[in-house]
Amino acid sequence: MSNDPQEPLLLDHEYDGIQELDNKLPRWWVWLFYLTIIFSAIYLIYYHVAHAGDLQAAEYEKEMKAGAAVKNAAMSQFEAGIPNLQPSADATVIASGQVIYGKYCAPCHRTDGGGLVGPNLTDDYWIHGGKYADTVKVIWDGVPAKGMITWKAILKPEEINAVASYIYTLRGAKLATPGKLPENQQPAKPSGPSEFE
Ligand code: HEC
Repeated sequence: MSNDPQEPLLLDHEYDGIQELDNKLPRWWVWLFYLTIIFSAIYLIYYHVAHAGDLQAAEYEKEMKAGAAVKNAAMSQFEAGIPNLQPSADATVIASGQVIYGKYCAPCHRTDGGGLVGPNLTDDYWIHGGKYADTVKVIWDGVPAKGMITWKAILKPEEINAVASYIYTLRGAKLATPGKLPENQQPAKPSGPSEFE
């Protein structure tokens, strides 16, 4: 405190002509400051001493678990409904299926569905059955032993339905380059002479 009776708030020090006043802090500010100290004590006791609340990591784990439960429920619901699925006739669904097909399936099944590593998807011969539900099921579960990926781990149910709906439109397509010949597939329906008949 300064001894100057004219300026009782003026502090003693002075640098380059700059002086400091010892103003009183506003009461609201001081109380806010005390409040933060009280808050930190409560926070410390609640989270780190009593372990009464979840920290971020535990909260994250909890929410991930809840999310996985919701996802698994939706997955099993879709799986249970596969036998009753019908191919979508919605042009936007089929178009989105075509995009998925081009991105994920064409490398093995050829852009036009004629087959490369994977079998021809345009003919009447199916290893896993020719019904629409069979197609969805084989995409859903894959055939890992034969190199067909289990797509349920990568694509969402509606994406699988979309790509299956797109494949459905490829059936009977006239291909510019002949497609892969049937190997061990069975005809879905008799259509002309074949070695299986
Ligand atoms: C890594 C190569 C590969 C990729 C990528 C791939 N497939 Fe396959 N797919 C195969 C093979 C190999 C088979 C034959 C499995 C068998 O012999 O049982 C197959 C079989 C199928 C069948 C059953 C055919 C039948 O005759 O019953 C369908 C339908 C199918 N794939 C759709 C898809 C779709 C849709 C995608 C993209 C989401 C895809 N595949 C991506 C390799 C692949």
